[in-house]
Amino acid sequence: MARKLVAANWKMNGSAEGNAALTGRVVEAVSALACEVVLCVPYPYLLQVGGLLAGSRIGLGAQDLSEHDAGAYTGEVSAAMLTDVGCTHVVIGHSERRKYHGETDDVVLGKVRRAQAAGLVPIVCVGESREEREAGETEAVVLRQLEAVFAGLDDVGARSLVLAYEPVWAIGTGLAATPEMAQAVHASIRTALRSRLGDDAGALAVLYGGSVNADNAASLFAMADIDGALVGGASLDAEAFISICVANSGR
Ligand code: 13P
Repeated sequence: MARKLVAANWKMNGSAEGNAALTGRVVEAVSALACEVVLCVPYPYLLQVGGLLAGSRIGLGAQDLSEHDAGAYTGEVSAAMLTDVGCTHVVIGHSERRKYHGETDDVVLGKVRRAQAAGLVPIVCVGESREEREAGETEAVVLRQLEAVFAGLDDVGARSLVLAYEPVWAIGTGLAATPEMAQAVHASIRTALRSRLGDDAGALAVLYGGSVNADNAASLFAMADIDGALVGGASLDAEAFISICVANSGR
């Protein structure tokens, strides 16, 4: 049985005051649930949110990290800094990083290696654009992004990932993939994982992301290869996010 995990990606949202209320409510409501929960928050709030999560079972994640170790890289944040402030996870290769910051598959692999070397669990995002889907290239794009990471990792590294399938056209649009569409891609991902990792493939969490909300979460989680969600907009609403975590725990 694959792991159950719901990760919040707050993206570039938050304020000291709002974070306290949101995090406090999430800690109160999800701590007893049977799914793993991680909050991926902007760098300036990692210490604050980490403090609020102290003593809970909820993980703390960043949304990116540098592919470099340390030194003259103004504005960058290293893997060691993330573990220093209590991070357990880090999102890597989000489509917004790939699109707005030119992150290539090579850069994504470099960041995954840095993260793992520091003991962080990378949440690696893959997904096709609308044009790629319309051209019938969904599976090819997703598997290329996945293989680019796998090719550079040993088996221990390949087993120590969380994957997130996030179709670009579904992100922030309110147009989530149907459970069947998402499952079809997740099944391809699982097949690729199996050919690399054998039976261990079942233990790796493969999340779906893209307009997940309190209403559609349960039908997505009912699919055989969807283990959880990477949640953007709905993670900023405590009650919506909690509902998604409850839906994932109950399946
Ligand atoms: P939305 O849930 O806002 O569509 O964002 C998904 C996402 O990009 C999470 O990383």
